[in-house]
Amino acid sequence: PIVIGRCFTYTTLVNPSIRYDCEDIWRHFEEAVVHQSSCNVTEEHYYEMFNAMPQIWPCDRFLFWSKTRTLMHSFAAVFRHFWTLEDTLVGYMFNDLIWCGQEEDSDFDFNSCPEWSTCGTHPVFSLWKQASQNFAEMACGNITVLLNGSIANAFSRKSMFGSVELDGLNPQRVNYVNIKVMTNLTLRILQCIQDLTQPDCRHMET
Ligand SMILES: *[C@@H]1O[C@H](CO)[C@@H](O)[C@H](O)[C@H]1NC(C)=O
Ligand SMILES: *[C@@H]1O[C@H](CO)[C@@H](O)[C@H](O)[C@H]1NC(C)=O
Ligand SMILES: *[C@@H]1O[C@H](CO)[C@@H](O)[C@H](O)[C@H]1NC(C)=O
Ligand SMILES: *[C@@H]1O[C@H](CO)[C@@H](O)[C@H](O)[C@H]1NC(C)=O
Repeated sequence: PIVIGRCFTYTTLVNPSIRYDCEDIWRHFEEAVVHQSSCNVTEEHYYEMFNAMPQIWPCDRFLFWSKTRTLMHSFAAVFRHFWTLEDTLVGYMFNDLIWCGQEEDSDFDFNSCPEWSTCGTHPVFSLWKQASQNFAEMACGNITVLLNGSIANAFSRKSMFGSVELDGLNPQRVNYVNIKVMTNLTLRILQCIQDLTQPDCRHMET
């Protein structure tokens, strides 16, 4: 399956410094999700899996973001020393995937899962919630937060950042929160830094 393939890629190419047992992680993932009704998987179901994938990052490099996904990618590409949730093993493995179990079946369902907004304990939501919580608890030193200044509410208590990560930060470990409210213009400038040949960038060349 794609998830285990990504785990092998991560442990061999992306971040070979820590050893992980991808088969074991996969087994815990299966135990968490298969045979559960698709709306009934909580964070607790994933505890064993997260225990099998401990990670530690250096301080001062943690990058959080809310409603700035595209910007975050450009930002992390230009300022390469930042780490986001997507750089962790769990983030790398499950990025952009949807999954759920089926009660009557011993297999996964990747095609007909309910919308994750339709149930409180959706397997996808619960995994990201726990992953975000762990990432926030691990954060230390001077951390950076990217918020979206081109929408009405740059900060929302309902977002994963506002509802989970912010409360997960440990004041004993985090000594500075560097909040950047970025606008669409910033995003365009960053995109131009990455690729000056984009049509919108011509007048920025000098
Ligand atoms: C959800 O899980 C709980 C505890 O594991 C169980 O008691 C309950 O019957 C489950 N509900 C459904 C709809 O499967
Ligand atoms: C802000 O949010 C809008 C709407 O989701 C998005 O299109 C835009 O790229 C975001 N801007 C930044 C700077 O992230
Ligand atoms: C925290 O990090 C940001 C960005 O990397 C930097 O601009 C800021 O000066 C730092 N603040 C402290 C107190 O180190
Ligand atoms: C920012 O960009 C998004 C998508 O390109 C657009 O929907 C939104 O209206 C823009 N916001 C502002 C304030 O320009």
